[in-house]
Order: sequence, then C-alpha cells, then structure tokens
Amino acid sequence: MINQQTTLFKTPAPFNLRLQVRYFNASEIAALFEGQDIVQGLTASPKTLPAQYFYDDRGSQLFEQICELPEYYPTRTEAWILRHYAAEIAECTGACELIELGSGSSTKTRLLFDAYQAQGYPLHYQPIDISAGILVESARQLLADYPTLNVQALAGTYEQALSNLPPSDLSQRLIFFLGNSLGNFMPQECDRFFAQITTVLNPGDYFLLGVDLEKDSDVLEAAYNDRQGVTAAFNLNMLAHLNHRFIGNFNLNAFHHQAIYNSVDRQIEMYLHCQQPQSVQLKKLDLSIDMAQGESIRTEISRKFNLEQMQQYLQAQGLSPLQVWTDPKQWFGMILCRR
Ligand code: AVI
Repeated sequence: MINQQTTLFKTPAPFNLRLQVRYFNASEIAALFEGQDIVQGLTASPKTLPAQYFYDDRGSQLFEQICELPEYYPTRTEAWILRHYAAEIAECTGACELIELGSGSSTKTRLLFDAYQAQGYPLHYQPIDISAGILVESARQLLADYPTLNVQALAGTYEQALSNLPPSDLSQRLIFFLGNSLGNFMPQECDRFFAQITTVLNPGDYFLLGVDLEKDSDVLEAAYNDRQGVTAAFNLNMLAHLNHRFIGNFNLNAFHHQAIYNSVDRQIEMYLHCQQPQSVQLKKLDLSIDMAQGESIRTEISRKFNLEQMQQYLQAQGLSPLQVWTDPKQWFGMILCRR
C-alpha cells in the first residue's frame, strides 16, 4: 500500500489534467469586430496593416525560423541574458504564477522554468498567444519535459487574455513580455497596454520586459532583410493569411519586401511595395481598394529603445524597475519591475 501511494505520488499527472486551454478568437464579440482594423489600415493614406495578422500558423512557423537566422540577433541575445541571469530573476521574485505574453514556441521560457525549478518553486504557467496551433503544440512539449508543470493556455489577443486571466494559484504573479514585442506597438498602444498590465497586477507583483536597444543601422537593417529571404516570406505571408481568412485576392507575386531603419522615430519599418497596379478585394470585409504601382503598405514597426528612458517610462506607468540586465555588446536589455 505504501509503495503504491509512493508510486502514484511520483508519477506525473497525465497531460489532460495539467493542461487547460481557453480560446477567445472564436467568441461572437471578436467575430463582430474582426478585420475592422484591416479596413481602417488599408483605406488610410499611407496604407498600413496591423502586425498581429502575421501570426497565422504558417506565420508563427516563419517567425520561429527568423529567430534562428544569423542576422536576427534579438532572440540569441535575449537568450544569452536569460541563460546568465534567470537564476537572479527567480531569486528576486520568489515563487510566482508565470504569465507569458506572446509565448510562441516558449523556447526561452524554458530558461526561466529551469531557474524557478532549481529554486524549488512550483511551475504554474499561463501562456498567451494569438496563434492557437503553436500555443497548444508548445504546451504539450513543455508538459512532456517538465513533469510537475501546470499550464493554463489562453488563445487570443493580449487584451482578451489579460481581461480574462484565470485566478492565480500562487500569491504572486510575474507577467513577462520578451523578444521586444513591445517594439511592435505604437506609443499610444504602449500606454494602453501598460494601463491594462497595471490593472491586472496587484501591488507587489512583477513584470519582466525584454527590449531591443538602439544600435548601428546596418546591424538593424540586416536583421530585417535577411539573405535567405525568410523575413520577406514572413512579410508576404500576411497577405496570404488575409486572402485565406477574408476571401481576398492580393497578388503576392506583385509585392516586394523591404525593411528600413527610421533613425528619427528610432524604429525599423517593414513594407510591402506594390510592383504592379491591382484591385484588391477582401470579400468577408466588404472591402475593395485599388493599389497603384509603387504604392506601399507598412506592415510593421519595430521600435528600438534606450534603457534609461525605458526605465523612466516604466516608472511613470506604475512599474518600478528593480534590476536591469544586458549583454556584453549592450544590444538587448531586460528589466524586472515591481508593481
Ligand atoms: C515579434 N517581433 C518582436 C519581431 C521584431 O523583431 O519586431 C517581429 C519581426 N519582424 C520581422 N522580423 C521579426
């Protein structure tokens, strides 16, 4: 009997007991507003598209490939920082509910898990991602590798997930937002984002932010115009995604990818340049537009930050910076804050 109990205790609970998934994309309210941001962007001048539409399942796979590219330094550099300092982060926060925004493949998350596990803290993880496919697949892999891990995955936008966070099993939360995803927000979107973060966090909770830092424009432009053309495929895939999701007819062969560094606004800007005139329809959105030869759609901004200014900004948002880590070249930074 004792043996039996011991065996039961040591055997990890099966996946289905350690994994819960909530989907927000399919909700009626989401469906009602779906695509209105596309209509707004494509009827504006100059034309823009929201970067969230990069991430269908194919787009998420292409992004994973971008992270492996020799020119794309952010992922490697941030992983270097985590490899060296995750233990300090865990020591600093103590046991926390680990909530990741834009979790993707959760590769770097493993470095945090290892650090929290080494301290003997329980692993409670709430990954949030717009792409349900990669979210569930990554959760399954993590559950296989971390037998005591519990996952409550949330498939939807940050706003949807943050306003519906499951109650915390642990007394404190750490929300982490890695990979310079903040850089893809316009300044007003950043303000709205932090207003929501500070509502969700209780005083004493933590926020960990990974930010890409200003550097030589050659390094930056090479990272977004890679020689293998993966970033170009990622950029064009947004149009394929829109064609599929909204019954559209963008002619992908007539667009050309380019990323440039805007040193005034301190941001990479990604464009799709139209090479020949075309009439574009997105039937589900009841949208028809004409694109002239030479006209461009801006699909993404990726802002680059200054560590001092970012700390001041976070402080002004109600998140007090506790500690900052960077890499030897100071290309990337990580800031741990407390609400
Ligand atoms: C997800 N995000 C932080 C990436 C970036 O660097 O801004 C997206 C990306 N776009 C092109 N390459 C990578």
